[in-house]
Amino acid sequence: MALVRWSNRFELGVPFIDADHRVLVDLLNRMHDASRADGDLTDIGGILSALVDYTRYHFAREERAQAAAKYPDIADHRLQHARLTGEAKRLFAAFRADPGAVEVGDVVDFLSDWLMDHILFHDMAIKPYLLANLEAVTAAEGVNYAGLMAGGAAADEVDWASLSILAVEDSKPFGNVLVAILKAIGVGSVELTATVGEGLEAAASRRFDLIFADWRMNGEDGLDFVHRIRSAGVTAPVVMLTGYADESLEAAREGLAISEWLQKPVTSAELMACISRQLVK
Ligand SMILES: [Fe+2]
Ligand SMILES: [Fe+2]
Repeated sequence: MALVRWSNRFELGVPFIDADHRVLVDLLNRMHDASRADGDLTDIGGILSALVDYTRYHFAREERAQAAAKYPDIADHRLQHARLTGEAKRLFAAFRADPGAVEVGDVVDFLSDWLMDHILFHDMAIKPYLLANLEAVTAAEGVNYAGLMAGGAAADEVDWASLSILAVEDSKPFGNVLVAILKAIGVGSVELTATVGEGLEAAASRRFDLIFADWRMNGEDGLDFVHRIRSAGVTAPVVMLTGYADESLEAAREGLAISEWLQKPVTSAELMACISRQLVK
């Protein structure tokens, strides 16, 4: 069951801000579901990573909107955003260092309490200013997700919109989050398949610039997938996603054509850096 049910009491009436808040509520609900269902810790980490990144993106957009609306308490509001961003990053770093040491239920409670309180009271306080300046506010919505995540690194060396990426991932929570991040980055086309068979069918019949493949899929094996697409003549770089640190050695022994290993959970910045390494030679 959803932790937070979206209702019109959350609505500010500015479409891009409301859409962002919906994304945040959706990510919170997914994390809540994954933690209650004793979900895979790598799924939970993936959702947490997306939540941290998307919160940062939303705050940047909302602050631009506040500046455009000449909201008088913007400095205090910025400070609140900065506090949550800092705490969320700290939680993600702690989770990454040792997932077992972090009480996921507490993290979900903390983030949902904070975000709900923030949207319902602090964001609502901006509503009249936003609505009184809707045109200027709407014009301010453009924050480049890829540029923000890359934090000064060259995000524009890749033409994200022209890319076509295939992700083969059996975990629905992680797969959906991966697709959401790739789309937020601006990747033009993202196809998600949940099994080796479907992934093989897609890779053999359509052209992809890059393929992300999960290492361990329900009773199936990412290595088998790579063997099969390579024998079918697919030459696109394959990035293997794994929750396990030492398996690259095993694959190296098998001499597989895997371009790179990425350890879950991944951040938006890591995904972008990896894509850039693979495609900008
Ligand atoms: Fe907000
Ligand atoms: Fe806010």
